[in-house]
Amino acid sequence: MRKTRVKNKKRFIIAIIILLLIVALVVALVDFIVKRSKAKTGPLGDEDYTSTGSAITSGELSKEEQERLDKELAREKEVASAKEKINSMTYPISEVEDFNLILVNKTHGLSDKYKPDDLVTVDRFVAGVGNNETHMLRKVAADALNKMFDAAEAEGIELRLRTGFRSYSYQTSLYDSYVKKDGKKEADTYSARPGYSEHQSGLACDLGGKSQGFALSYQFGETEEGKWVAAHAHEYGFIIRFTDGKTVDGKRMPGEITGYVFEPWHIRYVGLDHAMAMSGTDKSGSLLTLEEYLGIVDEAEYIN
Ligand code: DAL
Ligand code: ZN
Repeated sequence: MRKTRVKNKKRFIIAIIILLLIVALVVALVDFIVKRSKAKTGPLGDEDYTSTGSAITSGELSKEEQERLDKELAREKEVASAKEKINSMTYPISEVEDFNLILVNKTHGLSDKYKPDDLVTVDRFVAGVGNNETHMLRKVAADALNKMFDAAEAEGIELRLRTGFRSYSYQTSLYDSYVKKDGKKEADTYSARPGYSEHQSGLACDLGGKSQGFALSYQFGETEEGKWVAAHAHEYGFIIRFTDGKTVDGKRMPGEITGYVFEPWHIRYVGLDHAMAMSGTDKSGSLLTLEEYLGIVDEAEYIN
């Protein structure tokens, strides 16, 4: 009787051990299958990978994701072809037919009547600053700026237009108010006289960043938004225009070529390839002002 009980106990223990072994085997098998299928689909889960590692959409991406990828691809192509173009150009470019390269500075003015005929309102502007017209740019520049704002936002950087197009009369009241405040000599270092502002071309604009409440600020260049603009504006066809102004003993000095103090917020549309060339993305690798790029470097002062 006792013998039979011991025998049964033994059988029971063996059965438990066999059961545990089967369970462990099944768990290991499931784990192996799951890991294998994850390795095949890659980190995004719903993408296939080519041998070069670039992602190919599998058709399971959301519409937004697909659009974003398409946009990125188009942008990469655009930048690559601009790079090819600028590396075959010679400087300075003196025969200018491209309106995007129009030079407006202290020696090259615009008529008081001049107003671009294709101004459009930019998507994101600082409400309450300026008027309906100053929220506008020429279409080519507005499209590029909207694209740039979108790209910045995708990286968590919020930018807005403060002032775009300024009419001759708007610039007159602005300049006059600065002369009243600081005197003519000082005002001339940071504000253009009417007819000499590239804002009137509809291709230049001032930006504000969220971290500073979208205000106009000399510190803009040190903010994350300003740094993003400095690093990426050329990829959208813009240059930071007054880069030759320096600070000497704490005082902002006008640049010898542009005649203006450094304005980190003021960008000018020139087109993708020209912007890339001027930003030193080309073979020369050096930063150029628009004047240097065009080979039109005059005394950076008004004639009278
Ligand atoms: N602040 C720039 C120079 C302008 O007034 O156009
Ligand atoms: Zn400006």
